[in-house]
Amino acid sequence: MEPRRGGLTCSLAFYVLVASIGSLQFGYNTGVINAPEQIIRSFYNDTYIHRYQTPMSANMLTSLWSLSVAIFSVGGMFGSLSVGFFANYFGRKKSLLLVNVFALVGGALMALSKLAWSFEMLIIGRFVIGIFSGFCTGLIPMYIGEMAPTAYRGALGTLNQLGIVVGILIAQIFGLEVILGSTTYWPLLLGITVLLSVIQCGLLPFCPESPRYLLIIKKEHELAETILQKVRGTQDVSSDIEEMKEEADRMAQEKPVSFIELFRSRQYRQPIIIAIVLQLSQQLSGINAIFYYSTSIFEKARVPNPIYATIGAGIVNVVFTVVSLLVVERAGRRTLHLTGLGGMAVFALIMTIATKLIDQAVGWSYVSIVAIYIFVAMFEIGPGPIPWFIVAELFSQGPRPAAMAVSGCSNWTANFLVGMLFPYAAEGCGPYVFLIFMGLLIIFFIFTFFKVPETRGRTFEDIAQDFQRKSNFEPANKSNNVELTGVKVPQGIIE
Ligand SMILES: *[C@@H]1O[C@H](CO)[C@@H](O)[C@H](O)[C@H]1NC(C)=O
Repeated sequence: MEPRRGGLTCSLAFYVLVASIGSLQFGYNTGVINAPEQIIRSFYNDTYIHRYQTPMSANMLTSLWSLSVAIFSVGGMFGSLSVGFFANYFGRKKSLLLVNVFALVGGALMALSKLAWSFEMLIIGRFVIGIFSGFCTGLIPMYIGEMAPTAYRGALGTLNQLGIVVGILIAQIFGLEVILGSTTYWPLLLGITVLLSVIQCGLLPFCPESPRYLLIIKKEHELAETILQKVRGTQDVSSDIEEMKEEADRMAQEKPVSFIELFRSRQYRQPIIIAIVLQLSQQLSGINAIFYYSTSIFEKARVPNPIYATIGAGIVNVVFTVVSLLVVERAGRRTLHLTGLGGMAVFALIMTIATKLIDQAVGWSYVSIVAIYIFVAMFEIGPGPIPWFIVAELFSQGPRPAAMAVSGCSNWTANFLVGMLFPYAAEGCGPYVFLIFMGLLIIFFIFTFFKVPETRGRTFEDIAQDFQRKSNFEPANKSNNVELTGVKVPQGIIE
């Protein structure tokens, strides 16, 4: 790896932090709904009584509650699918600014629902804040990935995940009844997201547009260079500019990439499948089952203060995201992802055994707490942060927005499925439910081992060309590739 001039500057750190406020909001809104469940349920019931003079049926209440939780992911699917259009039409920075409208509207709807005696407002608010979060999961890794120098792309990409997990932890703490999780203050708990949007809108104007976007899409070479000099903290940004120009040249010869082409073209098929499976490995690892149900799992394990044990899991979550941030550029994405998946599979098994044996000896409840904490730690080592930014690394500028949208949407769909189906699976399988996740984790481990390339320290261009070389033998792409790379790759030796 050649040493690169310019690296981590204060201004770059500032831009990344400002962008990550959106990740904080995404995490906050993921976690915030769990603690005040009972309080908000009775608000639904009271509203119904206020309106119709008769209590809501238990069935209707449960359905409306599930809807309130899950509609967030439906909004997320819509948001993540629109990322590509927004990012290219308005630019990365303006999109980040614009989507705050969704956060402001969503947060306001939720915060005012109690005052307006309307649970519909809360549900619509959850949907709208979901759209915002969907945008965040695409736009933020894209902006960070395009701003960061190659050597720090992973570490800065992990900041996105750090924003998410800190958001979840803040939501867990604020959700305590003594803070905001009470009958009086829950509208404030849900509305706080508006404040974060206001802060981000105040700071984003001081951030530049992505130079990669300016140079490659907008062809504004000088502006891109000026911004890059500021971001890198050096006058000599020629190697970055050179790399972007190469990408731009190649893009000029690529047709614009649509969703369908992403799957049809052999050259993109392999990376898009990798991107989707990595996203699925994050959601289907069972992490959200822990975060949605940890309190009841700890209750079963007879932990004296289950809520505080849950907050403990939130703290482990944050600490290990920091660990991942520190090692991601040294150990490599692939290694960390494999370590995380393998570790999660092992501790899913230990967790299952401990839960099964809890009645036999008190010690097993501690084993189950420790197993859950290590499960969470392993998640943040790999499957948590890596899928978000590796997608930006697997594709060049042409297909990147569409790829981010497709992979983001798969993540949200899996998130939705786990949220909806886990309660039924837990009911059906009892303590064995985590064996399902163990099976899935093993499958994802094998897939990653055989299919996922290492992307650490490589340029976007290099990674994309690697996939292109591998797909070279397909007649539809062959002539194109030979012309672009100038290297004729003999057929038959590749795959
Ligand atoms: C709704 O509230 C009423 C009155 O407080 C209560 O009797 C009823 O059980 C509640 N319904 C549900 C489904 O919780």
